[in-house]
Amino acid sequence: MVQPCNVVVLISGSGSNLQALIDSLGEDNPARICAVISNRADAYGLTRAQNAGIATAVLDHKTFAGREAFDAALIEAIDAHQPDLVVLAGFMRILTPGFVQHYAGRLFNIHPSLLPKYKGMHTHQRALEAGDAEHGCSVHFVTEELDGGPLVVQAVVPVQPGDSAETLASRVQIGEHRIYPLAVRWFAEGRLRLTSRGVELDGTPLPASGQQIRDLPLSH
Ligand code: GRF
Repeated sequence: MVQPCNVVVLISGSGSNLQALIDSLGEDNPARICAVISNRADAYGLTRAQNAGIATAVLDHKTFAGREAFDAALIEAIDAHQPDLVVLAGFMRILTPGFVQHYAGRLFNIHPSLLPKYKGMHTHQRALEAGDAEHGCSVHFVTEELDGGPLVVQAVVPVQPGDSAETLASRVQIGEHRIYPLAVRWFAEGRLRLTSRGVELDGTPLPASGQQIRDLPLSH
């Protein structure tokens, strides 16, 4: 019997990735979401968590003196749940180096581009403007470099003629909802690790792009 893996999810908004994670839980999956924490009281993801019977907390960054104070309180709130893994799922805050170091090797983020392309914002628009034939999303371990940590898995989708940032974003989200549960499950099963040699799946180093997934449906 594999040990349960306690997961804390941090959100700021809609929480569709949180929902995909919730939907992936089951008896055969050792991941357990023990809490969802938001920096915004109006994040719809809090409702999704409550509907699934998951504990929630709100920590409003505006009520703290600065980034260090907020991150210290966030660490305290997260660590109360003794997580094995912390998952950033649309958490719109830049984290301090101290926070990132505290969760080294057990902190995931999902980013809506094929990293290392298009770190930061407006990724879909940038992919369109560059005339890219393919776009996608990436799950990575978080390091101090923003959107720069070692890659775990990417979903690759085609850019189609006539795409807008919105149509492309919705195609990429199908990929997000596939790869985030996959990465969390690999980690929960003890198959995925960040080592001094890089990211390993089943003891084998992954390529720099992480595992790539291409067989996705093109619409919901
Ligand atoms: C996703 O597009 C994710 O890639 C980015 O933030 C968005 C979160 O969406 N980091 P949701 O709140 O999970 O719906």
